Amino acid sequence: MEAFTFHNPTRIHFGVGMISKLGKEMQDAGIKSCLMVAGEGSIKQNSVYTQVLDTLNNHHITVHEAWGVQANPTLAKVREMVTLAHTLKAQAILAVGGGSVIDSAKAVAAGVFLDDPWDAFGGNVPVKQALPIYTVLTISATGSEMNGNSVLTNTDTKQKWAFYSPLVYPQVSIIDPAVQCSLPFKQTASGAIDAISHVLEYYFVNQTALSTQAIDDALMKTIVDMTDRLMENPGDLVARGNLAWCATLALNGISGMGMKGGDWACHQIEHAFSALHPDIAHGEGLGVVFPAWIEYMSEKYPSRYARWAKNVWGEDSVSRGVQRFRDKIEAWGLSGSLRDLGIRERELPELLELIMIRPTVGAVSKLSAAEVEALLMLAY
Ligand code: NZQ
Ligand code: ZN
Repeated sequence: MEAFTFHNPTRIHFGVGMISKLGKEMQDAGIKSCLMVAGEGSIKQNSVYTQVLDTLNNHHITVHEAWGVQANPTLAKVREMVTLAHTLKAQAILAVGGGSVIDSAKAVAAGVFLDDPWDAFGGNVPVKQALPIYTVLTISATGSEMNGNSVLTNTDTKQKWAFYSPLVYPQVSIIDPAVQCSLPFKQTASGAIDAISHVLEYYFVNQTALSTQAIDDALMKTIVDMTDRLMENPGDLVARGNLAWCATLALNGISGMGMKGGDWACHQIEHAFSALHPDIAHGEGLGVVFPAWIEYMSEKYPSRYARWAKNVWGEDSVSRGVQRFRDKIEAWGLSGSLRDLGIRERELPELLELIMIRPTVGAVSKLSAAEVEALLMLAY
């Protein structure tokens, strides 16, 4: 097992009705006003927005609202919200939504102390300060509610990049699984694939972190089982709750302890898809890349991938495990190839260029441009 340091400062309130805890948490921290960051309106169609306003009003916290964060959020929107946060002298940022909203909130929280929020992305300028962040999660997928990552697209350069800082872990996150019953199944399934992918990014890197791998086996199997249940019954709260908690654990540090930093080639590759096509859901894009990557890599390291096929899918060969993974993705109604995602063959050179702009791709094995190209063809 590799040496590691684990620290996660985010306090979680998990369960039905827990949004009511938010106001007191913020009041106890001395917060009198906040900037609420939100998406394109889903929180007004379920009860989330009203629940949030109630708890803030009950604790005398003034809320200013910034709406319109899109799925696959943009730098331009974050810049707009940073200006607003300056004008309002915001004391805290409250994200109410999914990963896109939370990631934007983190970029605003750090961005108010930078010349430009993009400076934090790509690791050129260290984040030294950030406003406190609170979140109410409405879709389980990214783990952003309990980690220090933010991912944004710079639409001018078509770069979808991330930054990590210990300063942007949310102070408090509320995870009420009941509010996710309003999700279209396709979003639930995309979120599930994203969460499985976070586990997979660590799973193959190190073979001595047996305790972590055992947790990871359980996370992946539970995510698959709970998503199957939700396809049958979107209101199944046992399945909602377990899927939600698995997704948080998949990227809050727990799933990768003792596994070095993980691989992340598939994420790097998918981020180029959704940078170029913002209508591609991140999880759906990963569902195309990951099976192809496992197929490709298992030829180099067969035993690592055999464990996954056996423990997650009960199969004796990697190729059968990959087939089961692909069948599940298809059964959930998600795309099975780059072509299905709407990517045209003539876009592949541009995709390759966007992927290879980073110094390395992958860790299990560092992929060359020719290998990434081969992988794209396998996934096409
Ligand atoms: O905008 P609204 O109206 O809220 O609608 C959203 C959005 O259209 C909708 N939705 C959310 N909760 C809902 C709901 N609809 C009905 N009922 C609800 N309860 O779902 C759509 C997708 O939301 P989004 O926030 O984009 O989803 P997700 O949480 O999957 O976030 C994806 C983004 O996070 C990044 C991805 O790249 C992508 O940009 N990631 C962030 C990571 C992190 N911070 O650690 C890691 C991930 O690997 C990932 O890269
Ligand atoms: Zn992801």
